[in-house]
Amino acid sequence: MNAGVIGIGRYVPERVMTNADLEKMVDTSDEWIRTRTGIEERRIAENDMDTSHMAERAGKEALRDAGLDAGDIDLILVATVTGDYGFPSVACLIQERLGAVNAVAMDISAACAGFIYGMITAKQYIDTNTYKNVLVIGVEKLSKITDWEDRNTAVLFGDGAGAAIIAPVDDDKGILSFDMGSDGSGAKYLYQNGDHLYMNGREVFKFAVRQMPESSLKVVEKAGLKKEDVDFLIPHQANIRIMEAARERLGLPQEKMASTVAKYGNTSSSSIPIALVEARESGKVKDGDVLVLVGFGGGLTWGAVALRWGK
Ligand code: UT7
Repeated sequence: MNAGVIGIGRYVPERVMTNADLEKMVDTSDEWIRTRTGIEERRIAENDMDTSHMAERAGKEALRDAGLDAGDIDLILVATVTGDYGFPSVACLIQERLGAVNAVAMDISAACAGFIYGMITAKQYIDTNTYKNVLVIGVEKLSKITDWEDRNTAVLFGDGAGAAIIAPVDDDKGILSFDMGSDGSGAKYLYQNGDHLYMNGREVFKFAVRQMPESSLKVVEKAGLKKEDVDFLIPHQANIRIMEAARERLGLPQEKMASTVAKYGNTSSSSIPIALVEARESGKVKDGDVLVLVGFGGGLTWGAVALRWGK
């Protein structure tokens, strides 16, 4: 058996904030945001919808999709940098609410690469026969730490949650290979200090356009595949220009890349699983397809997996 995805779910808040709304808040323009990032609008959670509430909704949907009960979950890994509290973890909060009484629960801090880190961590527990069903959630309420007066960052981010159940699947399906890495020397380029998030966009951009294509190619090679074998690319939805760099390096046409950045902006650790759910909904991800999921984030962190879809 191999570790693979047996169920997925997502939650995005209803409230839409458009580029026009942002024009009224900071010195920016719809034209600048669209051409530099590809973002048209993003979702912002209401005050009473905290990170754990979004995680809970996405988690429930993934459980339903997998046909599991909460009691079947052995481990909950929540990738987030915007938890409800310093502690307890979001994972512990939702363990109780889901009724996942048999699960160990912990959060992972790897910023936008967190969901990939979570998938790879889940795989280790499954490969070693330690746990069977792992609920991995990427969730972020970045609006809580966004400085709404800083145009460099305020236009980029949105809130949301995405979840997957990682469990044993047939040998020829599931996670075929992975790549992950960290570089703490880049911590200064993207961090939260006190209430707000700070970013050196240009440095993060340079890192991302190098790392995303490199990691994508690495997992294809490690899986013993060729670029032509890749059916669909699901990059972290940070900026359309960064996503395009990865797509072009894999030699894929535009329709073979997930793109939700226009309507959700950068939702950090939740962007990959949200894009995965929407890709499957629109029929773009089918049984047996080879997918490459790739992300990068504050830390600096990065990671990718090659995955054959199906159970
Ligand atoms: O999930 C990981 C999180 N981070 C990222 O993925 C961010 C990676 N970086 C990026 O996506 C891009 O660097 C940005 C979208 C943040 C910026 O795009 P850029 O093409 O690198 O622009 P820039 O930083 O070089 O700035 C160009 C100009 C500057 O003006 P000057 O110095 O040339 O006069 C900025 O002050 O654009 C200005 N600018 C803005 N103008 C209007 C920066 N933000 C805005 C804004 N509206 N919101």
